[in-house]
Amino acid sequence: MQISVIGCGYLGAVHAACMAELGHEVVGVDVDHARVARLSAGDAPFFEPGLPEVLARAVASGRLRFTTDMSEVADASVHFVAVGTPQAHGSQAADMTYVDAAVDALVPWLSEGALVVGKSTVPVGTAARLAEKVHAGAPGADLAWNPEFLREGFAVKDTLTPDRFVYGVPAGPAGELAAARLDAVYATALAAGTPRIVTDYATSELVKVSANAFLATKISFINAMAEIAEATGADVTQLADAIGHDARIGRRFLNAGLGFGGGCLPKDIRAFQARADELGLESLAFLADVDAVNLRRRARVVDLAAELVGDVDGARVAVLGVAFKPDSDDVRDSPALDVARALHGRGAAVRVYDPEANTTAARLAPELGYAADADTALRDADVVLVLTEWTEFRNLDPSRVGDLVAARRIVDARNVLDLAAWRAEGFEARGLGRP
Ligand code: UDX
Repeated sequence: MQISVIGCGYLGAVHAACMAELGHEVVGVDVDHARVARLSAGDAPFFEPGLPEVLARAVASGRLRFTTDMSEVADASVHFVAVGTPQAHGSQAADMTYVDAAVDALVPWLSEGALVVGKSTVPVGTAARLAEKVHAGAPGADLAWNPEFLREGFAVKDTLTPDRFVYGVPAGPAGELAAARLDAVYATALAAGTPRIVTDYATSELVKVSANAFLATKISFINAMAEIAEATGADVTQLADAIGHDARIGRRFLNAGLGFGGGCLPKDIRAFQARADELGLESLAFLADVDAVNLRRRARVVDLAAELVGDVDGARVAVLGVAFKPDSDDVRDSPALDVARALHGRGAAVRVYDPEANTTAARLAPELGYAADADTALRDADVVLVLTEWTEFRNLDPSRVGDLVAARRIVDARNVLDLAAWRAEGFEARGLGRP
């Protein structure tokens, strides 16, 4: 099939490359010339495991090309909209500027029978509004909503073999036509048995935001337990193991630590609350607490570091990890970067090392020091903070680290280190919600 993907960021670039991998003819459109040039050369503009291989293969095969010129989508019959919906300035709500601009630019190029497919995370009600735009500008075209659930770090796998497909389609024969078109796009995964739920626009939009709200709530729940554990001497990691054995609860997404960040969870729970407010509903008031617990963990790590060094002003702080999670170079709303900046703001000499995110972090926080490797960051440090759980940091050798640092102090803000082993090497070692 001939497919276009509008917006080639973390979501769209992966989607475009994976659709070509499945055998479709794909054109990716983005307004950023530099990004289009890199993608056209088969070069991934961000770190994502597996993407360089899929992208290079797709570009070399001739099935995938990129452009800034919207007119080049005219031959495609399915158009995925994968632009960002960041938090709006000065508000909790989602900024819909990019989605609206993408659809407005696309509509003049829609051919008879074309299908616009929204993938971006949007406030409920958006698809119905955009469908009107499509029908008004291109009466022979239609719109479906097909939310994306990919996780950074697993984006290629999640796109090629997702947990499920959700199609939000209009009622009646138009909806059947739209679902059949999406089935043709995703034929490979569907043949392998991937579940598919065909529903209305509003439900499909809500599936995405409610999944993210649930995951954020699960993480903040265990981080709230970490606060209780800190006040009572209990161990939240053992608590999570114990309650996680209950199949109704499950152990996944119960890792207490520095909390969630990234380009999705934080802004999605805020936008969801804002939408509920608009609807006059109190139903999502609890998400304000989910957000508050999450942000308190960042403050807690800053306090722990201060407690360990005594005086933050002038202290040499080694920060291991600034990406919002491992296997990503994404620092959007990164808890780790927040902590590093807060300590810098209090006068600490912060030296950051992240296996992939030094460059992206330096763009946002040029005031911090960046080290080319862990050893350089650790040398002569007064305290070490493990803020992102890269495998490299999980496997740190306490005795080697002890030889590099000025003082044996470590905060494991992701609860991935064996604190007893570090203490045996003379470290003052602290976790979150652990004695
Ligand atoms: C998330 C959703 O998982 C995905 O389905 C959606 O499409 C986009 O948002 P992502 O942001 O890539 O994906 O990261 P995810 O793996 O969900 O982790 C989110 C954050 O929660 C990270 O900052 C991570 O460190 C944190 N987290 C996760 C915890 O603090 N504890 C956990 O147990 C799990």
